[in-house]
Amino acid sequence: MTRYGCAIVRQFEMQGVWTAASSIAITRARDKLRSQQILTKHGVDTPKTLVSRNTADIDDLLEQIGLPMIIKLATGTHGNGVVLADTKKAAKSALQAFYLYNEDGTNILIQEYIKESAGTDIRAFVVGSQVVASMKRQSLDDDFRSNLHKGGLGTSVKLTDEEKKLAVKAARAMGLHVAGVDLMRSARGPVVLEVNASPGFGIEKVTRRNVAGKIIEYVEHNAPRKNSKDRVGA
Ligand SMILES: Nc1ncnc2c1ncn2[C@@H]1O[C@H](COP(=O)(O)OP(=O)(O)O)[C@@H](O)[C@H]1O
Ligand SMILES: [Mg+2]
Repeated sequence: MTRYGCAIVRQFEMQGVWTAASSIAITRARDKLRSQQILTKHGVDTPKTLVSRNTADIDDLLEQIGLPMIIKLATGTHGNGVVLADTKKAAKSALQAFYLYNEDGTNILIQEYIKESAGTDIRAFVVGSQVVASMKRQSLDDDFRSNLHKGGLGTSVKLTDEEKKLAVKAARAMGLHVAGVDLMRSARGPVVLEVNASPGFGIEKVTRRNVAGKIIEYVEHNAPRKNSKDRVGA
């Protein structure tokens, strides 16, 4: 849906309609490499990440990232295209498979495995400069991925001020007024895993917060009136 969705948003942008998620911000958020670059530039802590296109790099990758390592497709979603490799053999063969069947040239990220938070992550739902709901997601089996689409279980969680600030900073860095920021609690503090431009509303059921209401209020408050002179985009 990203290309189609962005084309529709672009149409509105050209007509001067205000949006809480600009087409460029949506496009950036859908690319995990682009997101990493932007977050790092803005001083948002993320898991250490490298890019590689050649299995000959394997020893370098092992030296810099170590084992186990996470290998992921820059454009994957719902936990698909994320692999946890425990051994050099597994890492090398997974990378080979990714490179070989990667006809559209999607970038492959090699990432530090945050083992302290294995199978869990935190979704912070950001609207404007506030976290309006947050939940912890836990995989139900021994999967290292906590995505609800993979059968993960969501429970309400209270964030620390540091985590809230980080989530808002990440959303802002990506240029998103509404975002689902995924965090992990690592030994060195919270790190941002990704920033979703179209977060699901499953969090409402888990936290009993009216997230949609918060978005509507935010838009009502921030979108310029119809005859306003100030009709710039997001
Ligand atoms: N570096 C990492 N360390 C530990 N777990 C990870 C790491 N990267 C991803 N995961 C786990 O895998 C899940 C999916 O990864 P993510 O990067 O969010 O991709 P997707 O866009 O497919 O959801 C995360 O929610 C998390 O549980
Ligand atoms: Mg995710």
